[in-house]
This record gives sequence, C-alpha cells and structure tokens, in this order.
Amino acid sequence: MSSAPQLLLLTREEAAREIAKLSDEIRAHDKRYYQQDAPSISDADYDTLRQRLEALEKQFPELITPESPTQKVGAAPAEGFGKVRHSKPMLSLDNAFTEEDVGDFIIRAQRFLELESAADIVLVAEPKIDGLSFSVKYENGELVLGVTRGDGEIGENITANLRTVLPKHLIGKHPKIAELRGEVYMKHDDFTALNATRLESEKFANPRNAAAGSLRQLDPEVTRSRKLSYFIYGWAQISDDVDIGNSHYEAMNLFKIWGLEVSTKGVVIPTLKGGLADILNAYDYVQEHRSSLPFDIDGMVYKVDRLDYQERLGFKARSPRWAIAHKFPAEQAVTKIEAIEIQVGRTGTLTPVARLTPITVGGVVVSNATLHNEDEIHRKGVRVGDMVTIQRAGDVIPQVVGVREDMARGGEDYVFPTTCPACGAHAVREEGEVARRCTGGLTCPAQAVERLKHFVSRDAMDIDGLGAKQVEAFYNEGMIANPADIFTLEARDAEGLSRLKNREGWGEKSASNLFAAIEKAKTVTLARFIFALGIRHVGEETAKLLARNFISFTAWREAMMSDSAREQLLAIDGIGETVAETLIQFFIEPHNAQLLEKLSAILSITDYVPPARLDSAVAGKTVVFTGTLEKIGRKEAKSQAEALGAKVASSVSKKTDYVVAGADAGSKLKDATALGVAVLSEDEWLSMIGKNNG
Ligand code: IVH
Repeated sequence: MSSAPQLLLLTREEAAREIAKLSDEIRAHDKRYYQQDAPSISDADYDTLRQRLEALEKQFPELITPESPTQKVGAAPAEGFGKVRHSKPMLSLDNAFTEEDVGDFIIRAQRFLELESAADIVLVAEPKIDGLSFSVKYENGELVLGVTRGDGEIGENITANLRTVLPKHLIGKHPKIAELRGEVYMKHDDFTALNATRLESEKFANPRNAAAGSLRQLDPEVTRSRKLSYFIYGWAQISDDVDIGNSHYEAMNLFKIWGLEVSTKGVVIPTLKGGLADILNAYDYVQEHRSSLPFDIDGMVYKVDRLDYQERLGFKARSPRWAIAHKFPAEQAVTKIEAIEIQVGRTGTLTPVARLTPITVGGVVVSNATLHNEDEIHRKGVRVGDMVTIQRAGDVIPQVVGVREDMARGGEDYVFPTTCPACGAHAVREEGEVARRCTGGLTCPAQAVERLKHFVSRDAMDIDGLGAKQVEAFYNEGMIANPADIFTLEARDAEGLSRLKNREGWGEKSASNLFAAIEKAKTVTLARFIFALGIRHVGEETAKLLARNFISFTAWREAMMSDSAREQLLAIDGIGETVAETLIQFFIEPHNAQLLEKLSAILSITDYVPPARLDSAVAGKTVVFTGTLEKIGRKEAKSQAEALGAKVASSVSKKTDYVVAGADAGSKLKDATALGVAVLSEDEWLSMIGKNNG
C-alpha cells in the first residue's frame, strides 16, 4: 500500500483548483482504462492521484461534488457480450528467459517420456505474436462461434466480430467440427493508420491495446473497419472424419489448406545431438529480424511436434508440458528514482517499489519498478535520486537493473523500514529469508486488503464486479473487513441508509448485478476455496492437490486440526515440510478458525470431482508407485493416474488401494504386503487403466 500523500497547507481556493484538475485527470484515465482498453498510467500512479484527491476532499469536505470521481466506484465494464464456456480450457504457456530454461524444458520432456536422448524430441518453433487469443468453431465449414479467452474457462461471445477477421467458410476437405485456437493482432501499418484518425487523447498506446479495443466492439462494423489480422496456432478439437496427421506441423499445414492463416514463420527444428543450438539459432535469427517484421512479437514458442508425445505430456494446472515460450530480452531505459515506497503484500511481505520519472519502455509508460527486497537494494546500491537502468519484459513487472554510476548520484543510502508502513507493527526477517514481513497479521489493513483482493480474484472466488478498486473502497469505508463480510453485504445494504445503488457510479442494475455475482460465488469448488484463502505457499496447484486428496471441506478441516495433520500431509506426493507447516499454523490461528467457521456456514463448498472419466477403474483410489517402471516414467505414471481421478501418495498406509511395484521395489513393497494392500505389476496397472498396448 502506498503511503498517504503529503498534505500541504493549501488555501480553499488552491484546493478547489487542484480538486478540479485531479478530477478531470482521473476521469480521463477512467475512460481510457474502462472504455478504450488503453491505460496510459500504471495502477499505482492512478491510485496516487485518487489518494491525493481523497485527502484534499477530506480536508475540504464542502468541495466534494456528486460528480467527483471519489463518489464513484470504478466504471461499468462494456456490456453486451454473452458468456460462453470453453469446451477445453484456454491455458497459458510457461516462460523461458534463458537458454538454460529452454534446455531444462527439453530435458523435462525427455525424462517425462523416458526417452533415451533429447535428440528424440523434435520441436517446432513459431513466433509468439503479441495479441489476444481467441477460440473459433467451424461446423461443416461454417464459422459458428467465436469466443475470447476470458478467464480461460469462460470467455465472451465475439462471433460477429471474428467473422470480420477470419474466413466465414473453410475450403478444401474440412472436418464436420473444428474448434481452433489462435491470436488476433494488429500490424504496425494498420496501427499507425488507425491512430492517425484518432484524437490525441484517444490514441491507442500500442498495437495490442488497439487490437483489444477493436475486438471488443459491440458493433461488428467498427471491428471490420479496424483491419485486424490473425493466425491459428492450435486446436481444441477436430472431429475424426479428417485425419490431421501425427504432428503439429502437419496439422498446421492442413489448416492452411482449409484457407486459414497459420504462423507464417513456422519452422520445424529437429533437436539433433547438441541440437539445442538449432533452436537457439532460429531464436537469434528471428530476434535479429524482429524490428523488420510487420507485427510485434515478444518471443518464440517451442512445441513438441509429435502429437502422441503431446498427448502423453499433457498439462499442468495452467500450461502444457509440451510447449514453452522463449521470451526476447527485456527492453531497457534510463530514468530517475524519485522515491522508494514500501508495499505490503497479502502475506505481509514488504516489497520496495521505486517511483520513477515516467519513461516509455517498449511502447509503454513506466513509472514504477520493483526493487524486490532489502538485500537487492543494498546489492545494487540504489539510492533515492539515482539514475537507474530499468527493464520491462512482456507482462512482467518492470525491474530496476542497476544504478548508472556514470551519471549524477542520489543522496543517502536507503534505510529499509523495520516497522510496517501500513500498520506500524514490527517487520521482521526470519533467518534464511530474503523478505521482511509485517507481524501485524489480520490487524494490518494492507494485508487485509490484499487478502480480500486475492479472495475475490478470478482464479479464486471469481466475484464479477468486485475488482481490486472496489474492494479497496469498500474496505476503506468499513463495509467489508474480511471475506465473510462480502456475503452479508446485501443484507446489510438493505437495512442501511446509504444504499449501494444510490452511490455515484452505481445504480439499481449494477448493485443488483454485484449482489447476484456474490450470490453465485457462494457455490465454490473445494480447490478454488482453498486457493482463495491465500495461505502462504498454497498456490493453485497445491490447492488442487489438497482438494484431490481430502475430497470434502469437512474432511480437509478435520484432517488439518487432527494430531496426524502433519503425517497426512506429508503422505501426499507433492507436499513437503514447508507447506505442511504453513497449513498447520494457519489452522492453529484462532482468527482463521473463526473465518473458516463463518465461511463454511455461508458457502456451499462442493466436493472434489475427478476431472476425467468418473467411470475409470482408479477414480478416487489411492496409488503408490515404487521401484523402477519400465514402460512409462514415474512422472508420466503419476500424471496419468491423476488425470483418471486417482490420488498418488508417497508412502504406503492403510488408506492405500494399490501399490504399483516396478523392478527393485524396496520397503514400500514390504509395507504393502504387511498391510495387505493390493500389489500390481506395471503391466497389470497399465491394463487396469486401459493403456497396456503390449
Ligand atoms: S500455443 C495451451 N503458440 O501466448 C496454450 N500460443 O503466453 C498453447 N501465443 O495464450 C498456446 N503466439 O495467446 C501458442 N505460436 C503461438 C503463440 C501463442 C502467441 C499466445 C497465446 C497464449 C499466450 C501464452
């Protein structure tokens, strides 16, 4: 949380002038953000403007007008697009920033597939075009549905708009059903031409924003006039009346025959012995020619070419194991550090942030950069007033690279605070940790707000219409102090005098939409709920693992409060000491216990349902793998079992249903025999799950 703005001794007239100016500025930013998809300042800078305005209005309440931006919460998002659930989620890609990361990716795939050598993996390299992803469905060759990525599970129906960008009919021998995935983008020339027609204040900051703004137009004729481009990079499903071949490359060639654009610079690069070099050569080549390409690219995407390998490699929580994005190096610039401020995160971590003299880096105005932590500031010797090199890579937060020692230097060494700037509690640094942490816990307003923001966020409870800004406003006004309060908001609102619908920027409809979204969020899966709690070290993947293993909220809570909590947690393959310890601590804390009590009374937390094949023989069963498996690797065996709804444990207990014993199985096999647990050979296991092809 940024510190309070300094209040100078202003006269009433001066304050009135500044309030008018700030209000205009904020309104212009709101418009750019909400209606044009083209913010020109960072969220933090926007917050600073608002805080300054709030402070002035607090001092001169008589100057508050109903039109003031402080009397509104956000602005209505564009309405009018229907929601569509994707048939398969639209996931993201892991990033590689170094050659080593790319090498690791190949080796991970090789190990997963248990191949003799990395040379057995052929990769395809494609440019990563910076645009917006979409899903498009052709039925009998007709474009019938177009959807934005949205949150990856549910997107917006943009069929009419996509019809102005993609062919309406496929040509050649096309399948009954083809659901394809690709990216919409704007070429440089089209971007320049579009901006030339717009008022200075309404120009798009970069081609990506222009593409976003153009695609989300309610009138498809506007979209048509914007000259968007697209390419297809993958698919979700293709009916089997057409053979798409055995490789990604073949499939892409087929799409071309259907009349679609595919990644034009697509090249197949065999990873020959020492062949990482081939991939990296292609990367260097494209990077060198990057500026002469007619569109923006932010890296290369490497994909395992063989489709059977892709199928076996499968997916992690948010990305495939068979592809990776190799990002181009960050763009850099030099600017001045105006101040160093401390932000307090959800788990109390104090993060220093450099406030910079705004500067354009790679087409985006940057005015804040992270300094990571205390040690980093000292290592880099950063002082307020220094000129520094900053860099920004893709959507990553800009970073301070280092001080320009050849330029004018700032004043004194920076002293990192030992108390929390938000609540004043001690900020301590545990041994071996880089982060200094606020000890205020639930009493610290900054932590409370960040936790609330996390709770309502997309991947957590996903409450539409309750974004970061609204949460902050509601928290500051005492309407919501903890997650449970969100669900009593409507009842309290109905009894209150200052009704939400009467607030500036709100109305009958937006208030009832918000209450409906809150009502809807009351039904939540166990995995999302666990993730939403924002427990340290418990990310989405771990939350899913916990849900898969404990099935119901009641069972999970009971297990976490029992004497054997630690033992039960450590028995799960994928949960280690740190996570186990954090979870136990979380449940010991009385505040948390109370919160869970309240939330579980209000919410309907649904039991974990295995994702695929409810009918699979191993759904819901607990399996332990031991010894050396010959036909599939240990990792592949685990991911296969999980995909079929099984739980994979790391040790044998009474709860184990099967022990799959490979060659040289040791103590776990003995445990199984002692406990009378069924022991299967690798072949028996593969037959059981229907994967034994001899
Ligand atoms: S393949 C399962 N190939 O980058 C996801 N994505 O950072 C497979 N993108 O969401 C994605 N060019 O929107 C793929 N040649 C390419 C791409 C590409 C751009 C986008 C895509 C994806 C994002 C991930």
